[in-house]
Parts: sequence; structure tokens; C-alpha cells
Amino acid sequence: MPYQPLIAPSILSADFARLDREIDRIPAADWIHVDVMDGHFVPNLTIGAPVAAAVGRVTDKPMDCHLMIEDPVRWAGDYADAGAFNVTFHVEAAEDPRAVADLLHAKGCRAGISVKPGTAVEPYLDLLEHVDLVLVMSVEPGFGGQSFMPEVLDKVRTLREEIDRRRLDVLIQIDGGIDARTIGESAAAGCDVFVAGSAVYGAPDPDAMIETLRAGARDARA
Ligand code: DX5
Ligand code: ZN
Repeated sequence: MPYQPLIAPSILSADFARLDREIDRIPAADWIHVDVMDGHFVPNLTIGAPVAAAVGRVTDKPMDCHLMIEDPVRWAGDYADAGAFNVTFHVEAAEDPRAVADLLHAKGCRAGISVKPGTAVEPYLDLLEHVDLVLVMSVEPGFGGQSFMPEVLDKVRTLREEIDRRRLDVLIQIDGGIDARTIGESAAAGCDVFVAGSAVYGAPDPDAMIETLRAGARDARA
């Protein structure tokens, strides 16, 4: 199958007072990435399930919820109910990541696990059979507009090798500091899905930037 990089703009960098219009500005997006922060797991507070549900109502695009929250087993189901296509939670916050993934699947929603920059992936490779996506954070979660940390790409390479060797249908996503310059090395390392907040919404033409990012990922893998 030809490489089909997916671009998931993060609405964290959009104008929260005008979310419907901000989403209308990015018809080229593959997924809409929604960053949920609880002020405990990360030192920032954003939005919750009611706003995610409102986002889901104004777009036909798959909604990708990234939960940067404590106790995901308690809250993840609300995001599936809000219409998410995929819900990703952090393994650092989950006592039993498998249980959270199973709960999401039981609701007909995809499940992703995420690791912060300092968290190794090896202890979680056994979970690959039970999830649809692994999100490798390339900044410390909490804020948009930070600089890309290239050292996390070793984890991407490890995951790529494992997923291919075991012939699994698991996507590798990267999030944090992705722009026209950093997307190439991420794609070359093996990423499939690219979250970009400030690069997209900070561009004069956000939709054109999505095309630029997608082309950058394709070129790097060609
Ligand atoms: C950070 C969030 C990201 C953020 C990315 O904790 O998970 O999704 O919006 O923003 P940029 O692309 O600006 O690094
Ligand atoms: Zn995110």
C-alpha cells in the first residue's frame, strides 16, 4: 500500500471562541485533533467532553481526542460518547491501559496510547495487539508552540519495527513541534499521523499548510 500520511491539525492553536469557523478553514485536514487537559496530568486546563461533543457536531471529519488527564478509565468513555473516532490516553496516567482500550472498543471507538518524551515504549509493546494507535509525544504535553524533540524518533523507529514485524494494524502518531521542517524526519522514522497546531493555525493559509505538511511527509518516505 502506498504511504498515506494523515494530518491532524490541533484546535488548541485555533480561536476557541470560533471553533466552527476555525474548523471550516481546514477542509484538507484528515482528522481533527482535540487536546483535553485537566490541570493535573499537565499544568494546563483546556476543554472537556461537552466541548468535544460540540466540535463533533460541526464537522464530518474523524475527531481524534488526546486525553492529557489523570484517571482515564473514568473519563475516556465520555469522549467516545461525544462522538470521537479515536481516543488516546496516556499510559503514565492509566493503572490498567488494557482496560481503558477495551472500554473504548466496547463503545465502538478506536483506542490509542500515548507516551511522554521521557517514557520508554518497551514496557508497552505487549499492548500493541490491543490498541489502534500509539502517540509519541515530541514535546512535554501541556502547551502548543514548543520545539520538536528529535530524540523521541528512536521510539518511533522501535515501534515501526515492532508493528511491521508483527504485521499489526496500528498507526504511529507524533505530536508536538511538527512543522514543514520537522515533519520529514518524523515521516522517515515511521510516523503515519502528524498532529500540528501552531504550524497550521499560525500559517497565513492553514489549509495550504496542511498540503505542505502532507507533501513533506510523502517526500521524506519516497
Ligand atoms: C500539546 C498538545 C499538542 C499541541 C501541539 O500538549 O498535545 O497537540 O496542540 O501544538 P504544536 O503543533 O504547536 O506543537
Ligand atoms: Zn495533542
